[in-house]
Amino acid sequence: MDFSQTISRDNTYSLKWLKYQGQDILPMWVADTEFSCAQPILDALHKRVGHGILGYTHPSQYAPANEAVKHWLKKQYNWDIELEWIVWTPGVVPAFNLACRAFCEPGDKVMVQSPNYPPMLAAPAINKMERVDIDTVEVDGRWTLDFAQLEKEAQDPKVKMFILCNPMNPVGSVLTEAELKEVARICQENDIFLCSDEIHCDLVLDQQAKHIPAGTLAGVESQTITLMAASKTFNIAGLGTSFAIIPDAKLRFQYNHAGMGLLPWANIMGLVATEAAFTECDHWHKVLLDYLRGNRDYLYQEINAIEGLRMLLPQATYLAWVDASGLNVPLPQKYFEDKGVGPSPGADFGNKQFIRLNYGCPRSHLEHAIQRIKA
Ligand SMILES: Cc1ncc(COP(=O)(O)O)c(C=O)c1O
Repeated sequence: MDFSQTISRDNTYSLKWLKYQGQDILPMWVADTEFSCAQPILDALHKRVGHGILGYTHPSQYAPANEAVKHWLKKQYNWDIELEWIVWTPGVVPAFNLACRAFCEPGDKVMVQSPNYPPMLAAPAINKMERVDIDTVEVDGRWTLDFAQLEKEAQDPKVKMFILCNPMNPVGSVLTEAELKEVARICQENDIFLCSDEIHCDLVLDQQAKHIPAGTLAGVESQTITLMAASKTFNIAGLGTSFAIIPDAKLRFQYNHAGMGLLPWANIMGLVATEAAFTECDHWHKVLLDYLRGNRDYLYQEINAIEGLRMLLPQATYLAWVDASGLNVPLPQKYFEDKGVGPSPGADFGNKQFIRLNYGCPRSHLEHAIQRIKA
């Protein structure tokens, strides 16, 4: 385990690296990391491939992966779940799109915080629904939801669902217990489904912050689904495996029914990797968080020391939301690319004056990027 090691991704068809192939631009965009997976994950995958037969496996019948999820949620979040609450999905993006179809009708309104992960912003329209943006506001040096706006918009009877992203991408905040209770109250009072994307929940860097799964919130048990995956934390996003936790049997039926014939099962390699991640990689996970915290602190110091750039300290994720409005350039994305650094364009998330930098990489990679930005 050496997070400072540089691993070439040439000839691996990496989405992140192909974007700038042939150009001298360091890719720091899409959310996967430059870190090798933990050895137990690789060993488990090798072992499974070594068997030689890769036929059908129904995720609900692959007991060790289901037990691993149950065990992980208890250990990480003190959340006691029943095995039947787990609904495996082939990615969190299909999972929240399916939630739109399962719990809303075309023409309904769906609230989504903004800025946000582009596929989440796109989900309502894809499903013939209207998106209602809930702004992200800066309060005491931290990004959070505009609760007054949430309360107001939720009262519209056409609003049927809130797709929450917690920890928040791109801003990196972890909602507090009080904030989540407020979200739950607003959803309960207005009869709104809560679909909580928590794909980044195992990447909390702030040692004072605590991730609380939406599914544990009192009062909204029968209107909440919680979406999670080992994919971001353990760098196995290419295996397309995630899970929804749906405690309410009626909701679970509705959800499964909406996906019938359309949504493939989570695949065997993803199940094997998730099982290993949640049962054999605790030390790797701890060292990862320490390394990312170091990267985050370094980036925070450096970015804020550059005239025209500003970022708040993210509490979670390996993503930094950088305000480039002080540069006074029309296209911050182009400005960075011209300097040889390839972030995600803020425009895709809802604010073109920002860029999002992925710091899930060796420190040397980050130092190199900073040198280039400063040059
Ligand atoms: C908030 C959020 N949800 C979902 C995803 C992607 O999920 P998946 O690859 O499981 O579809 C990402 C990836 O960056 C993300 O940041």
